[in-house]
Amino acid sequence: MAVIAMKCPQYRVTVTDMNEARIAAWQTDDLPIYEPGLLEVVKAARGRNLFFSTDIRAAIRDAEIIFVSVNTPTKTFGEGAGRAADLQYWERVAREILRESQSTKIVIEKSTLPVKTAQTMETILNANKNGIHFEVISNPEFLAEGTAVQDLLEPDRVLIGSRETPQGLKARQEIVEIYANWVPPDRIVTSNVWSAELSKLVANAFLAQRISSINSISALCERTEASVKDVARAVGMDARVGPHFLNASVGFGGSCFKKDILNLVYICESYGLQEVARYWESVVSMNEYQEQRFVRTIIGAMFNTIIDKRIAMFGFAFKANTSDTRESPAIYVARKLLEERANVVVTDPRALDSARHDLTGCPREVEFADGPYEAARGAHAIAIMTEWDIYRSLSWEKIYQSMEKPAFVFDGRNLLDHKRLFELGFNVYPLGSQPLKHF
Ligand code: UGA
Repeated sequence: MAVIAMKCPQYRVTVTDMNEARIAAWQTDDLPIYEPGLLEVVKAARGRNLFFSTDIRAAIRDAEIIFVSVNTPTKTFGEGAGRAADLQYWERVAREILRESQSTKIVIEKSTLPVKTAQTMETILNANKNGIHFEVISNPEFLAEGTAVQDLLEPDRVLIGSRETPQGLKARQEIVEIYANWVPPDRIVTSNVWSAELSKLVANAFLAQRISSINSISALCERTEASVKDVARAVGMDARVGPHFLNASVGFGGSCFKKDILNLVYICESYGLQEVARYWESVVSMNEYQEQRFVRTIIGAMFNTIIDKRIAMFGFAFKANTSDTRESPAIYVARKLLEERANVVVTDPRALDSARHDLTGCPREVEFADGPYEAARGAHAIAIMTEWDIYRSLSWEKIYQSMEKPAFVFDGRNLLDHKRLFELGFNVYPLGSQPLKHF
């Protein structure tokens, strides 16, 4: 919404949330989320045509267009638990819009939703007796965390799905006009509502599938003399495959991939498409396998016991340039290492607070270190969990000197110069290629 406000001064944008602390924080220079470039965008529009408020009812009454961006987490209870999307927040918002509205409005699904949700929303919204009409549009968001501002300023595409009725097409055009202020026309794609809703789930499923595919090959590379980096480069040079999203890793994390795939699986099951459901489910199982494999490699390499050994986890965020740790593979890895009775120390330039929260109630005490040098001091091993750039330029010599010997590095992101680390004395375990070890 901040980007829309910055690019379209002719629109008045009000961001509302029931969380007072968050709304207050959005009005300071200490924004509630870390995202490169976001503060500049917010500052460009804040107070001009971008406002923040907890008065949700007034915002509903005043708006002609409402973007609904509430959480749609995986259901944790009842029918479809662990797979289906929990739509309670969405439905609550729809009912609040219905209650407060005194005029016709366009309601936009910005949250990722199961295909056909718009229909439910339309039914609820248009169940009013005072002749107000609501048009529900699907406008899924494709930005990735850490590059959100850039992705919004120069999107690969903006997708707008509407009903193909005269009213639906009119509403679609109104939304097209917003984005046309900065997005080239050939990047604004329109479709019916169901295609737009489904495209969002499928886009994430395809991206995650690429990671699971390359991660499955990383396991095979470790058993053979192949290197997953070389394989990915060769495969990705085929223009039909493309080079992006082929970095083998300890596993994909983030609030979306797993949730959206499980949601897709649930939808397929509910339409009786069991084979399709199993196919997509395997993308998630491969990711879990990759996380487990990483821990097994650590234990195996360190002579089958890590009891009381100090293991420093470099990075906890699910990817670089974000403070977000949701579904981060680091959470699983940390818990497993603790179960094996290792002494775990976590460091991350942005995500330490979230890490503390994620690891509360663990069977053993976890140490949190402000910087990597402190974390590595006296450690038997370092596990690279997040591809933060700063880890590349550390003095690895100094780190090596400060560690217990033999010193190990498990590079869950293939971030570092493995040969150099080996020459410094480390035993290095890259992902998807042979370990470099001194024994
Ligand atoms: C993802 C999609 O990329 C966005 O297009 C989408 O809008 C977003 O979900 C969403 O639905 O909100 P995000 O989860 O922010 O974005 O981050 P990604 O860059 O996709 O990374 C996801 C995970 O995959 C991270 O843990 C990352 O480290 C991992 N990854 C990514 C790999 O392991 N290897 C790769 O080659 C790329």
